[in-house]
Amino acid sequence: MNKLTMKSKDLTQENIDKIAAIFPSVVTEAMDGQGNIQRNIDFDLLKQELSDVLVEGEKERYQLTWPGKKEAILEGNRPIDKTLRPVIKDSLNWEKTQNLYIEGDNLEVLKILQESYLNKVKMIYIDPPYNTGKDFLYKDNFSETNEEYLDESGQIDENGSRLFQNTESNGRFHSDWLTMMYARLKIARNLLRDDGVILISIDDNESHNLRGITDEIFGVNNFLATFVWKSRRKPINVGEAKFKPQRCSEYILMYSKNSDKVQFMPTYSGEERSYPHEDSKGKYRLTTILKSNRGGNERATMRFEINGYVPPEGQRWQGGEDFIQDLFNNGYIEFKNGVPFRKYYQNEEEAEHDPLYTFLSEEKTGSSESGKTYLNNILGNNHGFDTVKPKEILNIFLTTLTNNGDLVMDFFSGSGTTADSVMQTNAIDGKSRKYIMVQLPVDIDKDSPTYKAGYKNICEIGKERIRRAAKKIKEETGAEIDYGFRVYRVDSSNMKDVYYTPDKLGQMNLDDMASNIKEDRTGEDLLIQVMLECGLELSLPMESKEIEGKTVHYVAGNSLIACFDDEVSESVIKKIAEDQPLRVVFRDSSFRDDSARINVEELFKLLSPSTEIQVL
Ligand SMILES: C[S@@+](CC[C@H](N)C(=O)[O-])C[C@H]1O[C@@H](n2cnc3c(N)ncnc32)[C@H](O)[C@@H]1O
Repeated sequence: MNKLTMKSKDLTQENIDKIAAIFPSVVTEAMDGQGNIQRNIDFDLLKQELSDVLVEGEKERYQLTWPGKKEAILEGNRPIDKTLRPVIKDSLNWEKTQNLYIEGDNLEVLKILQESYLNKVKMIYIDPPYNTGKDFLYKDNFSETNEEYLDESGQIDENGSRLFQNTESNGRFHSDWLTMMYARLKIARNLLRDDGVILISIDDNESHNLRGITDEIFGVNNFLATFVWKSRRKPINVGEAKFKPQRCSEYILMYSKNSDKVQFMPTYSGEERSYPHEDSKGKYRLTTILKSNRGGNERATMRFEINGYVPPEGQRWQGGEDFIQDLFNNGYIEFKNGVPFRKYYQNEEEAEHDPLYTFLSEEKTGSSESGKTYLNNILGNNHGFDTVKPKEILNIFLTTLTNNGDLVMDFFSGSGTTADSVMQTNAIDGKSRKYIMVQLPVDIDKDSPTYKAGYKNICEIGKERIRRAAKKIKEETGAEIDYGFRVYRVDSSNMKDVYYTPDKLGQMNLDDMASNIKEDRTGEDLLIQVMLECGLELSLPMESKEIEGKTVHYVAGNSLIACFDDEVSESVIKKIAEDQPLRVVFRDSSFRDDSARINVEELFKLLSPSTEIQVL
């Protein structure tokens, strides 16, 4: 029953709730006039959210802060002039698959996906660099011009930006890691469905800092659990290390987008049983409810009478008198040939489920070692990954959190364990979860065995692992599931910059005037950028047809029809309009002149008035 408060509403707190729903990270605690701690809005952070320049200001408050925090907000919100290009040759089953493998910096990828995947992802799992001093590479376009450093680090990303290793000697060791994670987690949250969940692997190096920023980004109320995973089987047995505490656990933080909406699916790993009997309550099985006395020392009180029956000498009931009497009164005891049995109903037993314990034992979920052994079996020993998650960990979360058709994302995908686990879980329970993997194509050292084994960057390893895992799962289970994936790669926009910076108009040459699209870009490239801008998912079916010599692209039937060829004739336009597309896209140069353009608008008004017409 709700208790009346007999007070007017606390509108301030209601307003804070409204702001918190949009920007959970700006809610903090601060002292009120009477010295009480109250939930409050951090106006500096709110201002920063609403501004595209750095906002100054500092006041004492409860929060985790570090140099670079506000830049992280700016960085996360800053638009980028990039797109995704399809890489059909590296894809598997391009036509039919719903899975995506995206190559690029995950911050850029997350930004590019904001329209198409807003509120679409059911479960995000990430296993970011733990900041061990060796594992976190970061881009630094400003501070170093020293060629030597470049050679030493040996890493250049796809756009020629240098990647540096974050070592403890870096004065911003923790700050740089936090800045990197904060920007990514903030925008990743937008992609989660309202009933979505994010899981983040971490170890002792940054677990305390991670908890601070995730509480802020997702809201403390949305914290669900910290799972402790026994990640290591063998102790480190060299030198002094063997006398120190042996760290053998890692953690997985679990947050929901909205804890009121998230639902867990019960899983049942119990034995298969048969239920040969049936009554008005359903099918049931019978088991004994008597026990033999061991050594004759059992108390006589356990041989009490129920329904005129007393266990014979040497036997006793399995429970106390009240309990057994209760079972009898409620119809859970049946006498057969004068002997009592306990009835177990099928519907009750199958409703039992395994609790989702926050301790993940190595027996149940495997260890880092077993994850690596499995990868060695699939790829050989030269894959170069030290930290591979066993797929059993993912299997548990996939079965309890995701269902048919749900989308799963991993934007630090490494060797692709999450993709492998999605396939395996689908093969076992017949559901059709889909995945998006994201991985930075970090170059592999030319002298390493991994390079010699044929892999030039980490994405090549990830894709090959998924291909081989798919083959193995298919051979082992025979399941007809989606084993494919579409590959996309981050690249600069398809459009020439000059068209978007009018101040540079004077610098344009004649070629630039002729086309606003870069010469090396194809119709498929343009189609993908249009899909991203229109918020269409990248796994939608796409088809291209030749109509009177022009290439016409169809996305999901008539959801989007596009033609990027020059001088498209009226009869081609008519054919497109007859399909009544929801959206149609042409290029400027698709029309001979202004009158041709006006003509197209008239044609659509006549044949398909609800079509939205757009021009590149
Ligand atoms: C700890 S590993 C993930 C391992 C993975 N869970 C597995 O089982 O194979 C982290 C991965 O994130 C990648 N990574 C780091 N920074 C990234 C970024 N900015 N964008 C995309 N991937 C990144 C690293 O290259 C590395 O492969």
